[in-house]
Amino acid sequence: MQKEWPRLLRLFHDELGYTVREGNPTLGYELFYVDLSSWKLRLSNRTPVIWVKTKDLDGVTSQHLMQSLGDVVRERNLQRQITLVLLDGNSTPLFKYKTSLSFNLALVGGEEQKRVVHSRRPSGELLDIISAQIPISYLSPYETRAPVTGSRFFGREYELSRILANPDTNHVILGIRRIGKTSLLRELERILKEREDPSRVVYLECSDLLSTDDYIREVVRKLNPRELPRLHMQKYVFFFPNFLERMSQINKAKTIFLLDEVDNLVIMQRGDWELFRMLRASSNKGACQYIIAGFREAMREQYMLDSPFYNFAQEVRLNEFSRQQARQLIVTPMENLRVHIRNEDEVIGRIYEETAGHPNLIQYYCMILLRHLDQTGEREITPKSLFDVYADEGFTSHLLTSFMQNTENREKALVYAILMTAEEAGTKGFTLEEIDAVLRKGGITMQQNAIDEACNVLTLAGVIHRKGKIYYFTSPVFTKVLHQTYDLNYLFRKVKEEGYDRG
Ligand SMILES: Nc1ncnc2c1ncn2[C@@H]1O[C@H](COP(=O)(O)OP(=O)(O)O)[C@@H](O)[C@H]1O
Ligand SMILES: [Mg+2]
Repeated sequence: MQKEWPRLLRLFHDELGYTVREGNPTLGYELFYVDLSSWKLRLSNRTPVIWVKTKDLDGVTSQHLMQSLGDVVRERNLQRQITLVLLDGNSTPLFKYKTSLSFNLALVGGEEQKRVVHSRRPSGELLDIISAQIPISYLSPYETRAPVTGSRFFGREYELSRILANPDTNHVILGIRRIGKTSLLRELERILKEREDPSRVVYLECSDLLSTDDYIREVVRKLNPRELPRLHMQKYVFFFPNFLERMSQINKAKTIFLLDEVDNLVIMQRGDWELFRMLRASSNKGACQYIIAGFREAMREQYMLDSPFYNFAQEVRLNEFSRQQARQLIVTPMENLRVHIRNEDEVIGRIYEETAGHPNLIQYYCMILLRHLDQTGEREITPKSLFDVYADEGFTSHLLTSFMQNTENREKALVYAILMTAEEAGTKGFTLEEIDAVLRKGGITMQQNAIDEACNVLTLAGVIHRKGKIYYFTSPVFTKVLHQTYDLNYLFRKVKEEGYDRG
């Protein structure tokens, strides 16, 4: 016989098609996990549900019950997730005792559960109850610091389907920093592991792997750690190809490798290519498929043609979001959070323009807007709300820090010189000749190839991009923030003093 479930979960599972899993009881409470990822909020595909039955309420004070729930959170390590508590009784007295530990608990009392179960829109009703208790900036799926997957992954439909539909092709995902390469790889990993035997799918972050040895050790560790000792006994050029073939034979299917941040590995292999020859051979033999990310464009130009990568992989270029994708990222979560957007087209248009469609900046933008709503208690965004973004210190420092870290004085000089001439240069665009002219005006003469190179670096860093002969700043917000935060003349002078010639 099936275990007893709360009525609400029964309904969600049996009639609404949500996936519900039973967890291990903790401190005497039944635990469940429900997949709420389709809501496109911070609620994951394993949103924990603690069931507090009527008998659990017997003779227990609200304060003690809350402490007990706090201990479940601690015990199960749920601090960083939103957890639902289905409480078969009156939940109102408990709210008083919410602490930082129980901050993420959404309490659904007996009456509320009934309301959900009898509602004609149960999902919506439950979401209303949750969003009344959890700050919307926290409930939202927006994430600015880490790669996103599942309910928090947006857009990229074309790239996903292209890669998933071609299991016999290797792919190399190219794009600037923070455009979403890791997110795409992680989302592919998630989907593949759901569809296929998970042991066939290997995600590997390669930024710390500098040699062939390092790489092989990591792969063996992930696929069959029992063979690690053999690495010392046999030369890897013999061992490794054989290892990869055996793994695919055991699994009766190719091993799918998702290799992130391969830049360093490529640099270390330059000239030799021993490792990449092995990878290529394993792919030709049908033992492995490779999906690689992290190539910077310059690398591609310098190394692709005369390397084993040539013709090895199909290029998948990640660009900024389309307007439609940006709309999804802005509107879907807002709708689910019951936030109304007044003059929707204008608001989306403005955000899209100011962020140049950069997913990370759009996320930042939305996050700030939601934090403001949490502070004021309002639930409406208007074109006017958008000004708040420029005043947000987190946002401005996010933009400026990545610029400062990704560029050297030469590139900085170039950016300051352009922006000093006129703020409009930020949107109007500029040619190499114009760059040369403004630099000279500021007292800097740079050789043409130095200017070229600086423009390349700035393009790689995602600060500017080129259309034909004209360069544009990628994000108007960036130029505005730079103008607003600093005295550009001063910065330019400093750069000149410090020196802008790279040794
Ligand atoms: N598909 C996506 N949907 C929503 N946000 C995204 C997506 N891809 C990237 N982002 C945003 O960009 C940020 C950086 O993404 P990440 O995958 O780490 O980029 P990369 O690996 O290219 O540096 C994420 O934290 C998120 O804010
Ligand atoms: Mg990355």
